[in-house]
Amino acid sequence: MSTITVEGVTINTGLFINNEWVKGHGEPLETVNPATEEVQTASKEDVDIAVKAAREAFETTWGTECSGQERGRLLFALADQMEKRIDELVALEIVDAGKPVAWARADMEDSIACLRYYAGAADKIQGSTIEMDDKNKYAVARKEPIGVAAQIVPWNYPILMMAWKVGPALAAGVSIVFKPAEQTPLSTLLFAEMVKDAGYPPGVFNVLNGVGRVTGDALARHMDIDKIAFTGSTPTGRRIACAAAESNLKSVTLELGGKSPNIIFEDADLKEAAKWAAFGVYENMGQSCNAGSRILVQESVYDKFLPLFVEAAQAFQVGDTKDQNTFQGPQISKVQFDKILGYLEQGKKEAKLITGGNRFGNKGYFVEPTVFGDVDMTMKIGQEEIFGPVASLIKFKTEAEAIQIANDTSFGLAAAVHSMNYAQVNRVTRKLKAGTVWINQYTILSHQIPFGGYKQSGWGRELGLEGLEPYLATKAVHHYYGPEFEWPIKL
Ligand code: NAI
Ligand code: MG
Repeated sequence: MSTITVEGVTINTGLFINNEWVKGHGEPLETVNPATEEVQTASKEDVDIAVKAAREAFETTWGTECSGQERGRLLFALADQMEKRIDELVALEIVDAGKPVAWARADMEDSIACLRYYAGAADKIQGSTIEMDDKNKYAVARKEPIGVAAQIVPWNYPILMMAWKVGPALAAGVSIVFKPAEQTPLSTLLFAEMVKDAGYPPGVFNVLNGVGRVTGDALARHMDIDKIAFTGSTPTGRRIACAAAESNLKSVTLELGGKSPNIIFEDADLKEAAKWAAFGVYENMGQSCNAGSRILVQESVYDKFLPLFVEAAQAFQVGDTKDQNTFQGPQISKVQFDKILGYLEQGKKEAKLITGGNRFGNKGYFVEPTVFGDVDMTMKIGQEEIFGPVASLIKFKTEAEAIQIANDTSFGLAAAVHSMNYAQVNRVTRKLKAGTVWINQYTILSHQIPFGGYKQSGWGRELGLEGLEPYLATKAVHHYYGPEFEWPIKL
């Protein structure tokens, strides 16, 4: 089979089906990274082969055939593989996703922790028993693995988004056909080797690279896939939900976009709030679904907060992704880079540019950490997800106005409240239409805490014990020990 060596790491470029590397028959990936041009993609026919493999595994060696303890043991072994080869994963993620080394490593560590969390849960999946009024009867609600899942992820956290999906699915006994984003195929190909080395039966985890409209769409429409889990843009999420509805009504979970509000009240610790707000919007080059890109600041402290925020934004080191101290690397692609530059021009027309506003340097897709002041919700930069290092500062007067502005968006992924007034924190938190609310912090997620969106930010939750639910089906088993059944009429 064909392999390539990237940063000293050799990876197979084929499709990973049934624990083997096979040739892909899809169209080549259009990418700027010479290494990824070698990566093979899956045609519709290749998708059928992978789904068949996943189904066969589910019915024979996996699914309810494999004990919870064994599923847990395998998942721990997989996490150990990742830990052993973490440097290789980090090296691939730096070239492929443009991540600064410290953050690429942090992603891997979080991913390993996530797999271990679900490894521990694998033999603790429980249903319930239901007592009935009829003494001759009781019922059991069994939790069974849902079947075959397709999982489609974006390029901003290639391995971490995979861990969030693969962890609960493998713990539950679901077999997987996995599609990485076309911009970041490499680290998942190495991960596939680890799945094999960990000892998983063939067909449990399959990787198909490919473009969204071919490979992704074929997965979303497939008649023998029971569940699809997606992270990415809202328009693509909508398309996947439609495809699922038009085909076999497979169940769908969606983690979509955001325009999350970070609310700074006058009695916040302004210096701490500025630090978290800057981290919350500039982290991962602003390419985070939960980026706190709208920073709502109470008017009475706006002039005090602004210099603190600008100072925090300017303190980040931008540049060489292999430098341990670099905070911000390049944007993922020319498409994204150009899109962000477009928003910067738009912002200069609509609002007040405070700092940044341009390309950073003259090589690569770097963007200056940018702050716009005096933004309001009629502006494009106030409403749309920019997915770049761009903060919009919005003034508010009262608590009620803060809540109104915070919720004035079609998204509802995340929000934050910065205040030392705990009664206020409680009041505001309850009114925010968001799946995550941080108090005096931002962006720090944990595999132990459910994550997902209100409104057009998505369907369902990932992570935590709740994250197992989308991979489980409830089977109600009615136990009857008759014969004295009370019929409404005599039969
Ligand atoms: P996208 O949502 O189109 O792509 C994400 C994944 O979906 C990729 O694996 C892609 O191949 C797949 N996909 C695309 N079309 C599909 C289809 N019809 N059926 C099935 N799968 C499909 O995101 P894209 O185009 O990379 O970025 C566009 C914008 O989306 C960004 O500017 C950003 O605003 C947003 N975005 C949000 C993310 C998040 O984490 N919420 C992640 C990535 C992008
Ligand atoms: Mg797209």
